[in-house]
Amino acid sequence: MAKDLWQQRWDEGRIGFHLDQFHPWLDQYWAEITDQSHDRVLVPLCGKSLDLRYLAVGGHPVVGVDIVPDAVEQFFAEWSVDPTVAAGPGYRRFNGNRVSLYAGDFFGVEPEEGLCDLWYDRAALVALPPSARPAYVERLLALTSATASGLLITFDYPADEMEGPPFALPDEEVAALFADSCTVERLAHEDLTADDGRDLSRCSRSAFRLRRR
Ligand SMILES: C[S@@+](CC[C@H](N)C(=O)[O-])C[C@H]1O[C@@H](n2cnc3c(N)ncnc32)[C@H](O)[C@@H]1O
Repeated sequence: MAKDLWQQRWDEGRIGFHLDQFHPWLDQYWAEITDQSHDRVLVPLCGKSLDLRYLAVGGHPVVGVDIVPDAVEQFFAEWSVDPTVAAGPGYRRFNGNRVSLYAGDFFGVEPEEGLCDLWYDRAALVALPPSARPAYVERLLALTSATASGLLITFDYPADEMEGPPFALPDEEVAALFADSCTVERLAHEDLTADDGRDLSRCSRSAFRLRRR
């Protein structure tokens, strides 16, 4: 999905992916990912997720990237934080309260903070079609340290039943995408078919712990 289409979604308020609370699995599983550290966390395709706040309040410096500037601006406005804003090559960087958000393309931004030791992906990999995912993983690896760990939350359904985003992401595809770079451990799986409301014959979400090796 091109930048213009995401911009349009934000302009029209079609952001059904946005949650007005922390993701319950972040609260449940984050401690297992961090090993008690307060390392810097990368949040790709971050939107204006409240999870950014959760991570910052938990003591982590946070680096997020979203291609739509309104997402970044709304995040800080809704947090009542007045960020400092600076322009860089291909992006604007908004910084406040431990959170540094880049309004720019995840595939091009080079965060000034350097490598991150942790990452958090909720609705990022599933926002991309399967053809774009290998490049996403490559970029993620380029922006994280060789010993980094991440929490990945996915969504899956029969791919021919709905046009994404979100695009279906089966557990087997997660294993294949990270096979060369990470140990992949599924932490949770939940059937959402009865609650989803999109008329899918089945849908589910999974959480994974990924550890670079
Ligand atoms: C499905 S939303 C998820 C947002 C957030 N992770 C959440 O859980 O609310 C995907 C976000 O990715 C952003 N996005 C899409 N392509 C991008 C790209 N190439 N670089 C950075 N952000 C991108 C969109 O603007 C959108 O806010």
